[in-house]
Amino acid sequence: MITITTKQEMQQLAKQHKTDGNSIGFVPTMGYLHVGHLKLVKEAKKNNDIIIMSIFVNPLQFGPGEDYKAYPRDPERDKQLAEEAGVDILFMPSPGNMYQNEKSIRMTVLRRTDTLCGVNRPGHFDGVVTVLSKLFNIIMPDRAYFGLKDAQQFAVVSGLVEDLDFPLELIPVETVREASGLAVSSRNVYLNEKERIQASALYKSLQKAKELINSGIQDIEAIICEVKDYMKANMEGDIDYVELLSFPELEQITVLKGKVIIAVAVKFSKARLIDNIIIDI
Ligand code: PAJ
Repeated sequence: MITITTKQEMQQLAKQHKTDGNSIGFVPTMGYLHVGHLKLVKEAKKNNDIIIMSIFVNPLQFGPGEDYKAYPRDPERDKQLAEEAGVDILFMPSPGNMYQNEKSIRMTVLRRTDTLCGVNRPGHFDGVVTVLSKLFNIIMPDRAYFGLKDAQQFAVVSGLVEDLDFPLELIPVETVREASGLAVSSRNVYLNEKERIQASALYKSLQKAKELINSGIQDIEAIICEVKDYMKANMEGDIDYVELLSFPELEQITVLKGKVIIAVAVKFSKARLIDNIIIDI
């Protein structure tokens, strides 16, 4: 595995691989790697000649009160895990290199952001699509891999790739979970012992919703209420939202039909956790 720290070198190398006829699978991350990120690498290895992973904590996608400075970082451990997983090129630029010039363009996401995490994180997805547009142009992947744990991110990035005609395929990857059902996340380190146990209620409540839907319940409000009630009875975190929407459009629906997402967000003392399931009805 080689590590590259400037976008100039990275783009040069990516061009070389394209000229040589190698397909590029790209896994964008913010580091502090865990089994969720490594699953994306595993998927990428199935269909590409060269695997490129980026590790870049993108300042643009953190709001003023958010955890940019405190976001967990461990580059040495990340390098080891990426190499063991079979990453060929690790791209770790500095913020100064990525955002070298004073900006002359601002990207604004118009759809799929007025709900779920977009409501409490104004500008977050603008930052995500900006950094991904840059990374797509630097790395020129044939395929880019995204986790469905961040389903809204996947929905927004699908819009980006479609709108701007990026010549790449987006590949969604199922959420990797702990044995308890808790979705693996870098932010789980902020949970204390008790909260970690309680946090499995997020996924269990989603399973509850799935059971209700499978049993033929059509009443969306009733399903949302059940999910909330289950979480309230099984954890002390504050529920931020429970939503049932169409996927990937993320629009309110009145009839349960087609692809739907049930998404939840909960605030614990130091961590805000999200989870979701997508069901095809
Ligand atoms: P980060 O939070 O590091 O996540 C990188 C990728 O790993 C995302 O596609 C995310 O959905 C996926 N991922 C995280 N936890 C997962 C899990 N438990 N199972 C499966 N996949 C999981 O998302 C970002 O970084 C950034 O916004 C980024 C796209 C890199 C842009 O800065």
